[in-house]
Formats: sequence, structure tokens, C-alpha cells
Amino acid sequence: MYYPEELIEEVRMKNDIVDVVSGYVRLQKKGSSHWGLCPFHNEKSPSFSVSGNKQMYHCFGCGAGGNVFTFLMNYENYTFPEAVKQLADRAGVKLPEVEYSPEMQQKANKRARLLEVNKEAAKYFYYQLRDTHGQIGYQYLKKRELSDETIHKFGLGYAGKNGALLVQYLRQKGFEDALIKEAGLANFSERGGLLSQFWNRVMFPIQDSNHRVIGFGGRVMGDGEPKYLNSPETPVFDKRRNLYGLNFARTARSGNIILCEGYMDVIALHQAGFTQAVASLGTAFTSEQASLLHRYTENVLLAYDSDGAGTKAALRGIGILREAGLTGKVIDMRPYKDPDEFIKNLGREAFQERIDRAENSFFFEIRVLEQQYNQNDPEEKTKFHREIAKKLCEFKEEVERENYLQAVADKYHIAFEHLRKLVISYASQTGLVRPVERPKSGVQQKNKPEENAKRAQRLLITWITDDPGIYPKISKYISAEDFTEDLYKRVAARLFEELERGEYNPAAIISMFEDEEEQREAAALFNTNLPELTTVQEKEKAFHDILLSVKRNSYEYYASQMGSDMNALKSVIEGKKALEELARTRISME
Ligand code: CTP
Ligand code: MN
Repeated sequence: MYYPEELIEEVRMKNDIVDVVSGYVRLQKKGSSHWGLCPFHNEKSPSFSVSGNKQMYHCFGCGAGGNVFTFLMNYENYTFPEAVKQLADRAGVKLPEVEYSPEMQQKANKRARLLEVNKEAAKYFYYQLRDTHGQIGYQYLKKRELSDETIHKFGLGYAGKNGALLVQYLRQKGFEDALIKEAGLANFSERGGLLSQFWNRVMFPIQDSNHRVIGFGGRVMGDGEPKYLNSPETPVFDKRRNLYGLNFARTARSGNIILCEGYMDVIALHQAGFTQAVASLGTAFTSEQASLLHRYTENVLLAYDSDGAGTKAALRGIGILREAGLTGKVIDMRPYKDPDEFIKNLGREAFQERIDRAENSFFFEIRVLEQQYNQNDPEEKTKFHREIAKKLCEFKEEVERENYLQAVADKYHIAFEHLRKLVISYASQTGLVRPVERPKSGVQQKNKPEENAKRAQRLLITWITDDPGIYPKISKYISAEDFTEDLYKRVAARLFEELERGEYNPAAIISMFEDEEEQREAAALFNTNLPELTTVQEKEKAFHDILLSVKRNSYEYYASQMGSDMNALKSVIEGKKALEELARTRISME
């Protein structure tokens, strides 16, 4: 743990969750809770609730939930210590300096210095653009129809023709040559000593999602080569894990993210109001970037160049998105080359229409394939159909595969059974998937027993925190040991201990966990969707079932452990007794 628990608790108590969330989401009081539109998924009517009593939030739509720390972690994408820091500052609580090992300290210092030198260089470029020497750069950006506001928002700058000036400036600010070089800002030359890496280019500072400058891209004026020059990788500049524009896009909350190829595309889109646009950093889109996007959205719209290279890159991108569990769609840019040119020529409404009409990635792939075969030649056409069948086999889930099969058969006027036979034949040849069978019935697959047991345990914890008065009535039947999942056990132990003392503080329990995933899981424990029941009898029955199910699972668990665990015997005997008693008992809800 970075900070002592009492301190974390102090920070939490001094930041009322309703106040903090109100800074991000418009809330309205209704009953004992505040309600608003969930910031973690797209919705039109409010299902996001914030409880001042529980000091927690919960969305009934998407299941997001937690305390004031997890809210910031999710919304701002902070780590736990970052969230604590931010809220401590907000409430005026002083945090102790964290102690690191010497190596970690050194590494952290190096990173901090690299970020400082980048920031200072960005400032220098920014002022150059406004200097008389920088007019050529400024005019260039103007010609590309960027407003002063946009230039300012993205911190665009200009690297002048005299490569020694940047270095002079940075030295004067106290940065040593080795650092300037390590940041990729300058290089040693035989004749001139240390000289700027960027020379007569407009400069695009690349920021991480917290607006820190981690590197640069520089575009040549006119037609020189290379068109774009990017900073090399450094300890702060990881091209696989960052995206240009994400610092703004992550709070756009438009329900999707637009992925482009170029910096200018991102800027043009933001200027036109599409602040959800991002681009990779002069390198191909990576799986790391896909998981980064997954934190913010389920839907990625590809706005790649309409030429052959762009199409190829889009096909590659689709695969990466799919592996990351994201839904990809493709925006048709034709007849223009890229989003920048499209917006310049047709404007924002036209682009919005293209967004609305973005093509499902599977159909995009098929359409690209179609162009590779001469549809008037029967043999080629058959090959095309085989390729479709092959693609269909990539759908692991039968129902999905079947639906696509139907859709693609309709769209390309292929006989359904013919295509289906091709799929079966391809699948059995390669053993990729079992032959397609028509789905037999809509019966859902049953949950695994462990899943059911965990669910009952979650329901019980949520129920008790929603209605703590019930705890004394059941405390003789239930203990933390009945929770078979380790994290659940820890939460229950702490919760029951507090309830014994007559305290009640679920939001604090979440901070017990250091790991973010654990915090999210703990938060979910307090926010399971309880069944909606009206009559007392229904409630009593439901609660009784949940309690009995938790108890029975625990009994079975300990019974299975008896061979190896001596203590299990005691638990089993007690458990059996409690179970029998419980079966006969009515727990009153009146
Ligand atoms: N790129 C690069 N190095 C190059 C060319 C391109 O790193 N020599 C990267 C840059 O990140 C650029 C992106 O690829 O933003 C897209 O390149 P391209 O389509 O060629 O350029 P545009 O974005 O159309 O640039 P512009 O509109 O400025 O001509
Ligand atoms: Mn362009």
C-alpha cells in the first residue's frame, strides 16, 4: 500500500462522492440517491445512481460501480495512487512523500526529467511559430485551414532552420546535453556539436492521456523527405502504447472512437467537432493500443486512407480490434483520400453521415475480397464464395456465424444452402470449427455451478449493505468463512466486523485493496442487481434462498476439503447444523 489506510480513509471521507461526481456528471436528486446519465456507457435515460449514504455509485445499465476513488480511476483513467493524490489535493490533505528504492528513484527522476525537457521544447517550438522566423510554419498551418484556437489546443509549433538555437535554449533552462540527446531532441554532429533533430518543420507535440508531452512529430514544409519525422522511442515515449489525440478523445464520450492514420486527420476532425478522433504514432496500429481504446469504448470507427495502403492497414486494424474484443466499423472516405481532405471538401455534416453509415468490418472485408475476383467468370466467382466461407469460419460462435451466413448470402445473392455447404466443407477440412448446424432452440446455456455460488455470495453482500438491519438476524448462521472466493471472504470479514461494532462503511472497504482489478471486483460485490420484489413474502423467500444457497455451497466446499484440511471437519459439522436450522427458520423482513 502506498499510503496508510487511515490516511486513505481520511481522504475518502473529505471528498463527498456526490460533490465529486457532480463535477463530471449532471445529477438530480430522486429519493435517497442522485441520478444522472452514466459516463461509462452511452445512454439516453439516467440509470447511473450515486448514493450519499453508501458513498458509492452504481450504474444499473452497465454495472459500473465503486467509491470515489474508483470513480476517478475509471473516469480519468488514473491509477489508485493517482486518484488518492488528486482527491487529497482537492480536500487539502497533505500526503507523505512516497519512499522508493534508489533504483526506482533514479528511474522516476529520469522519466520526470525527460518529460520536463519535452515540455520545455514544446514551449520553444510553440513560441517559434509566433516568431517572425516561424512565419513560414504558421502560414503553412493556416493554409491547411487550422484556426488559432486549434493550433493552441494541440500546442502546435515550429522548429526553425537554425538547429543550434533549441539546444542553446534548453541548456539555458538547465538541461544537460546527455538528457537532450536521450529525449531524441538533438544529435551530435562533427561540425556543429549538438544540433536539433527537427529542422524547418511544423511540430506536433505528442501527449499521453494525461496531457504530458512524451514525444514529437514534425512535418516538413512542402514536399521534402521524410514527410513526417518522429521522436525515437525513449523511456517516456512508447509508440505501441499511446495514441495521438487520446488526451482529448478519452473524455469525448461520443459512444465511439475514430481511429485515423495521420496527425492532421485527428486535428481536422477535432476542429470539426469530432473530438473522439485518435491516430497511431507513425507506426502501425498495435494490440496494446487496442486494449488502451477498450478502456473508453466498445466501438471503433476506422477512418483510414481510401487508397490501397489505407485499405490494407484497415484490414489489419480490424483483426487487431477483433482480438481485443472491440467492434470495428469502417468509414468510407471516398472520393477523398483521408478525413482531413474529406472534411475540407464536404464538411462536418457529411462526415457525420459517413459515421452513421460506417460499414460493419466483416462486410468491409468481403467487399475488399470481392474486388479481387472477376465476378463474371464462374470459376473466379466460386473462388470468391470459398473465400467468404473461409471468413465465416472465423466466427467461433455458431449463432453469430449463422447470422452472418444468412446476411452475406442475401447481400451477394448466393444461395444460402450452397454457401452453407461450402462453410461446412471448409470447416471440416481444416478442423477450424465444427460443421455449422442450425441453432436448435433458444435455450440458454446454464451457468457453471461456481458462477452461481459466487453470484449468491455477491447478492448476499449487496443485500446486507442495502439493508444493514438484517445482519443481526442472520449473524448466527453466516460468517466470512462461508465466502469461498478469497476476495469475497476478505470483504465479508471486514463488513461483518464493522456491522458487529454497529458501524457501516462499505465505501471504505474497497480501499483495502491495492490492485485496481480487485477494487473493481470488491465494488461489484456491493452493487449486484438485486431482484425487484414488492411483497414482503417475496423478499423473505428470495433472501432465504440466497442465504441458503451461500450456506449450502460453503458446506459442500468444506465437505470436499475434509481429507486434506483438519479444520474443515469443524466447519462441516457447524455448517450442517446451521443449514438444518436455517431451512426451518423464517427471517422476517417486516
Ligand atoms: N508518417 C510517418 N512518416 C512518414 C509518413 C507518414 O511517420 N514519412 C505517419 C505520420 O504519423 C502521419 C501518418 O503517418 O501523420 C499519415 O501519413 P500520410 O497519410 O502520408 O500523411 P497525412 O496524414 O495525409 O499528412 P499530410 O496531410 O500532412 O500530408
Ligand atoms: Mn492528409
